[in-house]
Amino acid sequence: MNPASPSLPSPPTIDTRSTTDPHPPAPRLHAPPLILEPLTADQAEPMFEVLSERSLYAYLDDEPPASVAALREVYRRRERGRSPDGSELWFNWLLTLPDAGWVGFVQASMTDPQSCWIGYLLSSAVQGRGHATRAVARMVAHLRSHHGAERLLASVERANRPSIALLERLEFSLASPEEHAMHGLGPTEQLYVRFLAR
Ligand SMILES: CC(C)(COP(=O)(O)OP(=O)(O)OC[C@H]1O[C@@H](n2cnc3c(N)ncnc32)[C@H](O)[C@@H]1OP(=O)(O)O)[C@@H](O)C(=O)NCCC(=O)NCCS
Repeated sequence: MNPASPSLPSPPTIDTRSTTDPHPPAPRLHAPPLILEPLTADQAEPMFEVLSERSLYAYLDDEPPASVAALREVYRRRERGRSPDGSELWFNWLLTLPDAGWVGFVQASMTDPQSCWIGYLLSSAVQGRGHATRAVARMVAHLRSHHGAERLLASVERANRPSIALLERLEFSLASPEEHAMHGLGPTEQLYVRFLAR
């Protein structure tokens, strides 16, 4: 997920409480047959195996987690729901399927309604059935209805066809060269944008 924010005029930040307060936990969401569980540090153990699948990182900057303990530490930070300086709200849901258990995640990072970066990952065992599309669509609906998200952004490697197909299914479009240039993306990355009607 790219945390950069665009230089469009933006409304004030969405949450006015102290920037050191944790953000209230996100609710559980449903996108049948998927359940989107709000991330907690306790889920590091079952998620470690899911996230250890090396092929999932072919187009990501990330690496598989080094250990359950390292993942738990990452999750402990993420479950606070906002960045340490308070400027970004963090949304993280882990995906479960009734007959397959933990299978992936969807996430978003929002500095203001015009700047909501999304990310997603799904275990290869359950790919190709629309689950990731359904999960991202459900997250987007929640971000729009409960947090006023107006513009979604996703950076994706040009060669990551499954991810681009997902974005296109969800009505994202390729950003203009000017907008792309604003975000300091790498030469092989593409920026996709979707505006949400109010
Ligand atoms: C990106 C990623 C989540 C896409 O997974 P996916 O399984 O292709 O996506 P979906 O779950 O939405 O499934 C789409 C497939 O299901 C099919 N499908 C079946 N029913 C569907 C439905 N109701 N709705 C949408 N698609 C459906 C589609 O036709 C498509 O199959 P196809 O590729 O053969 O055409 C996955 O490749 C991944 O986790 N990659 C590694 C992490 C990553 O790169 N993340 C993105 C970073 S930018």
